Amino acid sequence: MLTGRIITVGIAGGIAAYKSAELVSGLVKAKAKVRVIMTEGAQNFIRPMTFSALTGNAVFTDMFADNHGGVTHIELAQNADLLVVAPATANIIGKVANGIADDMLSTVILAASCEVVFCPAMNTVMYKNPVVQQNIKKLRQLGYAFIGPNSGQLACGSTGPGRMSEPHEILHHIKQMFTAGDLEGVKILVSAGPTREPIDPVRYISNRSSGKMGYSIAKAARDRGAKVVLVSGPVNLPPPEGVTVIKVETALQMRRAMLENFPDSDVVIKSAAVADYRPKSVSDKKIKKSHDPMVLAMEKNPDILAELGRMKGNQVLVGFAAETGKLDEYARLKLRQKNLDLLVANDVSVPGAGFDVDTNIVKIFNRNGTVIDLPMMTKEEVAKHILDLVARYRSEQSGE
Ligand code: CTP
Repeated sequence: MLTGRIITVGIAGGIAAYKSAELVSGLVKAKAKVRVIMTEGAQNFIRPMTFSALTGNAVFTDMFADNHGGVTHIELAQNADLLVVAPATANIIGKVANGIADDMLSTVILAASCEVVFCPAMNTVMYKNPVVQQNIKKLRQLGYAFIGPNSGQLACGSTGPGRMSEPHEILHHIKQMFTAGDLEGVKILVSAGPTREPIDPVRYISNRSSGKMGYSIAKAARDRGAKVVLVSGPVNLPPPEGVTVIKVETALQMRRAMLENFPDSDVVIKSAAVADYRPKSVSDKKIKKSHDPMVLAMEKNPDILAELGRMKGNQVLVGFAAETGKLDEYARLKLRQKNLDLLVANDVSVPGAGFDVDTNIVKIFNRNGTVIDLPMMTKEEVAKHILDLVARYRSEQSGE
């Protein structure tokens, strides 16, 4: 989600400057293009070389130096997708609030046309000083964003608000800023959980699916502005707020709900583990045991996803594949046979992947042939990656 985004990190002179190395490293790992500006004060706490090593780019420290490869302060200010000031000292906050541009960082902030985020870090008494509070209030009113500060033990020994947010918290906020609303108004139909195929009034055939993957997708899509309909098999998860939930039990009920909602959807994500077979006849009385072995005749359930694939116009269709071997081969086959745009495949026999755990290890196959191999991560993170790819696929389709 940060791939290729140009993020400028401004580092002012506070002890929290050392934490900015972790922030910059996290942004680089997330594949953002990172440029760093340091004030003179910041260089007393950490050397520019740390950041040039992390980013592979020269660090901007001086308005009038000519070692910036021809990039001027105006280009720095205009060609960024986001400007993060971390740590933001009382000094830099005060300068910006009062329109002062007397060094590289303050000048770039004043000339910026992208969103600017401050991550304050200072002594508690300074932070509480009405002058600083007024400056922060003024900047907020003018549309500048703030992350933190946190409360806790400060480097100067005092305790209270003024501690810069942790790099992972800042990173999380930044990622949210880029994804919030990118699926605004998009209608997404998600299926989740197992199906239950009844044998008699007290027994059924089902599988180990917990529904966690599908519910994570539904919630993440809702947070990004989508209108979400979630068709859910029986699971032990609370219905996500702001999502229309349709509860079903059997594969046939799931099929009906999916077909009803399909024509009105822009994207369909089919993470449910649908039973491939159902008992041929359902006894209306509890089946009594006998001395003979029991044979249960089963008949095939319809393949809902394949059916949607045959009907699909320009909807984006995302399927899942749960495999226990030959993952790539089966995944490519399912992608083609079911006419999918994206297929999320996992080897459910690997620890940390698949049913009823909080993490997953997936490979995502795109119909254009590209494959993304993700490491083990939480199902929430997998959901974000899937939606990133859906958003990208949609914008490629519409030629943006
Ligand atoms: N699926 C479906 N209807 C079915 C079976 C599967 O819609 N009757 C969907 C699942 O929701 C999933 C995808 O098809 O998105 C793949 O499911 P999976 O169980 O991995 O594969 P199958 O197609 O059932 O093939 P097999 O069980 O032979 O691996």
